[in-house]
Amino acid sequence: MSQKLWGGRFTQPTDKFVEEFTASIGFEQRLYPYDIRGSKAHAQMLARQGIIAPEEAEQIRAGLDEILTDIDQGNIEFSIALEDIHMNIEARLIERIGTVGGKLHTGRSRNDQVAVDIRLYLRDELDAIIAYLESLMDSLLTQAEGNLNTIMPGYTHLQTAQPVLFAHHMLAYHEMFKRDASRMRDCRARMNVMPLGAGALAGTTFPIDREWVAEQLGFDGVTRNSLDSVSDRDFAIEFCSNAATVMMHLSRLSEELIIWSSADFDFIELSDAFCTGSSIMPQKKNPDVPELVRGKSGRVYGNLVSLLTLMKSLPLAYNKDMQEDKEPLFDSIDTVKGSLKIFASMIAEMKVKTDNMRIAAARGFSTATDIADYCVRKGLPFRQAHEVVGKTVRYCIEHGKDIPELSVEEFREFSALIDTDIYDFVTLDASVNARTATGGTARCAVEREIALARQAQKKA
Ligand code: ARG
Repeated sequence: MSQKLWGGRFTQPTDKFVEEFTASIGFEQRLYPYDIRGSKAHAQMLARQGIIAPEEAEQIRAGLDEILTDIDQGNIEFSIALEDIHMNIEARLIERIGTVGGKLHTGRSRNDQVAVDIRLYLRDELDAIIAYLESLMDSLLTQAEGNLNTIMPGYTHLQTAQPVLFAHHMLAYHEMFKRDASRMRDCRARMNVMPLGAGALAGTTFPIDREWVAEQLGFDGVTRNSLDSVSDRDFAIEFCSNAATVMMHLSRLSEELIIWSSADFDFIELSDAFCTGSSIMPQKKNPDVPELVRGKSGRVYGNLVSLLTLMKSLPLAYNKDMQEDKEPLFDSIDTVKGSLKIFASMIAEMKVKTDNMRIAAARGFSTATDIADYCVRKGLPFRQAHEVVGKTVRYCIEHGKDIPELSVEEFREFSALIDTDIYDFVTLDASVNARTATGGTARCAVEREIALARQAQKKA
């Protein structure tokens, strides 16, 4: 009476709405290639271990391959009555190859099956995301290489602080995404162990060979505790946390792109391909893509909190709650992937307005610290030097002058230590190029970092 694979114990059909409410097939269809891959390896192992006959394994393999092609081509309609991706595929298999299809689930449970499916899927997505991170890093490096003479104002509190190379600014983001990629690699390495064989929760009575299946599926090893195998989702949480960090970094870059493309800053121009106009104000070109990415960081943070809350206080082992892991995980994957993809090309195509940046860098007395450092090198304690420059800046403001415009006599009003060589230190280029220690903004230091990053790229 029931088409359910678990219908034996039941006398009454499931309520229609309950069926819909509990089904996961509506949102987990993307797992099908992984579900089939896992099933094929499992069936082959069952035959190798003499648990099913080789011909039976062969029939199962052929049936699963056909189903895979049919789903690829959109020829299979999934059924809500069959609840999830696992039972949709298994029921289809039995329909095609007959009762022998019913042998596939020997020594296995949907609980370890779903755990292996998600890991296989996430592993592929992690590889894709790492590749997108690398391509964004490449765009940032290319912008850095093209802007080794572009000086911009560096800010703290969004107030002009000291001049820096635009290349240096790009490399700051390169560092962030480099750490993000390394976090993603860590996550991949930690999750790449195979849970299949845990059964429903306690393991299986059949003489299975988990290690062999793990090898077939490209896992580095097998999980060591069946209860943990079916109830662990911390790999998904770890991924969502890494994804949230990527979005946090992207939101900061977004914010800067938005500020920089405003008429007031006018430091960059984003390509038309990444902007839209206004339906009423004809002059407008809105930086939609960075705004959207900045906004999307919200849902990715939310997904992390959803998963943490979902797993909080769950008793061992599997609980149906855990079916709710998929939508947040999938959404974080899709959002991060899409955002990185679009950023890689948007950064590559970004036009830098070198002259405007330099003009802005010259405003706001950005080389004031350099006068202080100059006085320190002539023997003045830094605190006193700070005072000297503070007064110099106040004088400049009162007289409507910029620092490099002051005469030596004017400088000397504030400290007798100052001489004509002061002009070698207070220009933008001098200020930037004096910061030569590792990690500084001097052109030579920035070039060293670019070279290292390019080398690392070649090795990878
Ligand atoms: N659709 C389920 C999930 O995603 C698969 C595991 C079902 N297991 C169970 N005992 N009901 O979690």
